[in-house]
Amino acid sequence: MEELVINGGKRLEGKVTIKGSKNSILPILAAGILATEGKSVIHDVPNLTDVDNIMEIIEYLGVEVQRDGNIVTLDAIKMNRHDATLDCVSELRASLFLLGPIIARFGFSEISQPGGCAIGTRPIDLHLKGLEALGVTFEQSHGLIKGRTNGLKGARIYLDFPSVGATENLMMAASIAEGQTILENVAEEPEIVDLANFLNNMGAKISGAGTNMIKINGVKSLKGTVHTVIPDRIEAGTYMVAAAAAGGNVLLENVIADHLKPVIAKLKEAGAQVLEEDDGIRVISEGSINCKGIVIKTMPYPGFPTDMQAQLLALLLSAKGRSYVTETIFERRFQHVEEFRKMGADIVMAGNTVALSGVDKIYGASVLATDLRAGAALVIAGLYAEGETRVGNIHYIDRGYDGLVENLRSLGADIKRAVR
Ligand code: UD1
Repeated sequence: MEELVINGGKRLEGKVTIKGSKNSILPILAAGILATEGKSVIHDVPNLTDVDNIMEIIEYLGVEVQRDGNIVTLDAIKMNRHDATLDCVSELRASLFLLGPIIARFGFSEISQPGGCAIGTRPIDLHLKGLEALGVTFEQSHGLIKGRTNGLKGARIYLDFPSVGATENLMMAASIAEGQTILENVAEEPEIVDLANFLNNMGAKISGAGTNMIKINGVKSLKGTVHTVIPDRIEAGTYMVAAAAAGGNVLLENVIADHLKPVIAKLKEAGAQVLEEDDGIRVISEGSINCKGIVIKTMPYPGFPTDMQAQLLALLLSAKGRSYVTETIFERRFQHVEEFRKMGADIVMAGNTVALSGVDKIYGASVLATDLRAGAALVIAGLYAEGETRVGNIHYIDRGYDGLVENLRSLGADIKRAVR
């Protein structure tokens, strides 16, 4: 098994080009199966295991999938299966994105129940309730979700919580439902807007994406299109925090600063310089030890993203004074706290809040990534810890960071993959 070995203490200098967004490409690949005419050509597709897995599932469904570097071409015309029951389906939460599109296309679907995961139980009730409102009936047994409809019909649906995935699933299904659908209290994340743009280019009639109410006028069919995925704001945020924590001067290219507002605000508050330049965002910092403690609470977009919580915590381990970080989206998203303690962090956890007091030094240790973002956070801590940090369970990191080691090495970090 591989692990990452980091020798801390190197400043980061240089530039990194951010890849296409993981959280955009996964629903976009699922939406691609709705095209009954023409091919879809998608640019800036990151090289990630989550993307490989969803492409494998789509191929199993009968879609022709071709990858040439960062360009993926989908031909869904001959798609002929409605059952996504491969082993990798239950492991990949994103396979749930296929539920809406498969039902919309065939009138029935059968997919393996996606499991819970390290960060929380991750129920799917909002996906199911919303699709039921569009006319689907579900039966769940033996780890399978079977859905059936005699035809999707537009409806007015209010989400109890602005779930990103449920908003996306419903947008995809409603695109080819009969009549109008109005989705209220929906997620406003940039990835929702990206998916809506993709669907609209396929011929859908969606308005309001990026606000809390989305209107969809159903159309009879969709066709393939050409699309470039938005840059990954979480990947960008991770490198920004890495530069702030390790110290240095790093320019991130291919970023949309608007998508990063909450992260930029918190980095500035902690004491890093963040400059929005013509060709990207530059972070200049003297490292965690010269930052100060701050208060963070994760919220749905445009609030501070839960996917950046662990990385910010990594930045604050040596910041002067106290920091408080509250997680409101996922109930078990603090497993990295125990790993940070192994590195000498002074953190107390009470309910969904952690309080931490900056320590003068953190130390290299053997730690385990407990989920994707926790893995990135441990790497960030390792970049400025004294001595050697070994991060295990790096398959989590490979799910969401394309070229992390190469990028950090190009910035001057001492990091490598090694066999454990
Ligand atoms: C997406 C992102 C993930 C990010 C999360 C929150 C993708 C592929 N993943 O995940 O990186 O951390 O948004 O920004 O885009 N919930 C329910 N019932 C449901 C669905 C969700 O109770 O049917 C709850 C979840 O348990 C969680 C909250 O809603 O507490 C937010 O989840 P959601 O927005 O759905 O996250 P995902 O779409 O799974």
